[in-house]
Amino acid sequence: MSAIAVQANNISSCIGKDNILKDVSFEVRGESITSILGHSGSGKTTLLKTIAGFQPICKGELFINGHCVSRPGCTQAPDKRNVGMVFQDHALFPHLTVLENIETGLRRKSSSTQKLERLIEKLHLGHLLKRRPHELSGGQQQRTALARALVADPDVLLLDEPFANLNQDLQIEVGIELVDILREQKTTAIMVTHDQNDALAISDSIIILMHGRFVQSGTPEELYSRPASREVASFLSRGSFIKAHYLDQNKAQTSLGRISINLTDKQQLKQGDNLDVWLHPEDIIVEPGQGEQVDVIDQAWRPLDLLVKIRTKDKQELLIKADQDFSRFDSENLKVKLNDQITYSAFA
Ligand SMILES: Nc1ncnc2c1ncn2[C@@H]1O[C@H](COP(=O)(O)OP(=O)(O)O)[C@@H](O)[C@H]1O
Ligand SMILES: [Mg+2]
Repeated sequence: MSAIAVQANNISSCIGKDNILKDVSFEVRGESITSILGHSGSGKTTLLKTIAGFQPICKGELFINGHCVSRPGCTQAPDKRNVGMVFQDHALFPHLTVLENIETGLRRKSSSTQKLERLIEKLHLGHLLKRRPHELSGGQQQRTALARALVADPDVLLLDEPFANLNQDLQIEVGIELVDILREQKTTAIMVTHDQNDALAISDSIIILMHGRFVQSGTPEELYSRPASREVASFLSRGSFIKAHYLDQNKAQTSLGRISINLTDKQQLKQGDNLDVWLHPEDIIVEPGQGEQVDVIDQAWRPLDLLVKIRTKDKQELLIKADQDFSRFDSENLKVKLNDQITYSAFA
């Protein structure tokens, strides 16, 4: 496993009287892609600016590659950190062409020409090199800003919502290329996003911020299968809570059967205590003739992804994932059950 590239120890960051980041601690491994995920206003951009050196901290310590770069009263300047940042608004130089903008990122011109050409090709910028930023679409500006940051070969690349201004086709296209480039160059990248799917799809690890506080970090799989709280569970992916009664250490009873659980809150529970169990849509099984009868309330079809809302006999509404259209079913006959091969996350 690679060394720790960025380490935050209990950092707090204040803007005026407001405490924007509160006691945030995390580690980012070198050569990995980490996403910072959180609602709008949760402090994601502030955290990136703190790592870049644009925002001082009022508590704690921040290390980059083992060197303390920020502590209260002492902030190493951004240009001393070898950290690249792609801002949400791209921050291109308006009077320079695309090529000149990208070249401002070059440190050793001769040695990096090959890399420059490769980035221009990978990010489809070849036909735009003579244009100025106002002659570019949002996506083209975004790709120019990415090329400028990447050509500088930073120790840590910070990306603020890199896909936010792209339409969906381009999000996927630029997203795949960006990840390709980051992996190829072994760049340590920290990417802010509010899009859970982006974060789950491309990250090695995810850090979740809520209201300026660190809430949980881990691999996409860890967070998806073991969310630390109700808030993380419902923020990270679609799904539903089903009520359950605690049976023993790792079992609970729901109206759709007895299941295995992971208890996230480490408190003392008695048999019969109420729990909420988080169900991903794909955790609910539909097999002809098996399980408990439910009513279909609603369904939302997206390509590759049909979600059906059902109601259990005890009036709980749940989302289930299906590969067929349930409107064709006589809802009298729809039966579902929970998967006894899965350990579910439960919250007291
Ligand atoms: N320059 C600023 N002055 C005052 N408050 C700010 C400033 N920048 C950010 N904030 C506040 O800090 C909080 C976090 O902002 P930000 O880091 O931009 O969140 P995010 O990027 O997650 O949307 C918000 O409540 C925002 O209003
Ligand atoms: Mg932001």
